Amino acid sequence: MNVADAVLKRRSIRSYQDKPVTDADLEAIISAGRWAPNAGEYKMSVIRNKDLIARINERTLDAMRNSGNEFLMGRAALPGYLPLYGAPVIILLSGPKEMAITQLNCGVSVQNMLLQATELGLGSVFLRSPSYALNAPANAALSAEAGIPEGYQMECGIAIGYTDDETKFARMEREPRGVVAYID
Ligand SMILES: Cc1cc2nc3c(=O)[nH]c(=O)nc-3n(C[C@H](O)[C@H](O)[C@H](O)COP(=O)(O)O)c2cc1C
Repeated sequence: MNVADAVLKRRSIRSYQDKPVTDADLEAIISAGRWAPNAGEYKMSVIRNKDLIARINERTLDAMRNSGNEFLMGRAALPGYLPLYGAPVIILLSGPKEMAITQLNCGVSVQNMLLQATELGLGSVFLRSPSYALNAPANAALSAEAGIPEGYQMECGIAIGYTDDETKFARMEREPRGVVAYID
């Protein structure tokens, strides 16, 4: 698969099979993330522990329900909604709190991983929602358990696994986003 194919084929997957991702595939995805453009330190927490994933899922759902944000509360209220979608692997990216550029370092790394997962035939989705739970002072212990260092904040992440139902919680029509202006 070439890059253009992966860009078009990638879509957000929100339902996963209970089937592990191979170590070789996971290593390839992590490596793709680490080869992304970068302008500062960040950390990847690669989480496969089912119990920890379940607890992050639960706290994220709780944070979404209590966010006061109409979109997040609406998603959390959908029957059967799991913010981590039952994925067998999640990778959470974090970086220094005081560095505004942390968001970009983490975001570009996740995008590389999404494309690599697509090439490998795996489903994936960009995750911001766990940050609502893990960056809250009340969840400091859980955040530490998830490998997020003191002074860091979780910016974004990726859920990875074999696709179960690509229509679940999905927008089926994909379209190019953003506005383009050619200034010649
Ligand atoms: C900054 C950012 C944050 C996102 N956070 C989430 C998230 O927490 N949960 C989720 O299911 N999707 C999340 N997404 C995925 C978008 O909802 C998705 O990319 C968008 O709806 C377009 O659909 P597509 O990825 O299938 O093309 C996020 C995407 C971006 C760029």
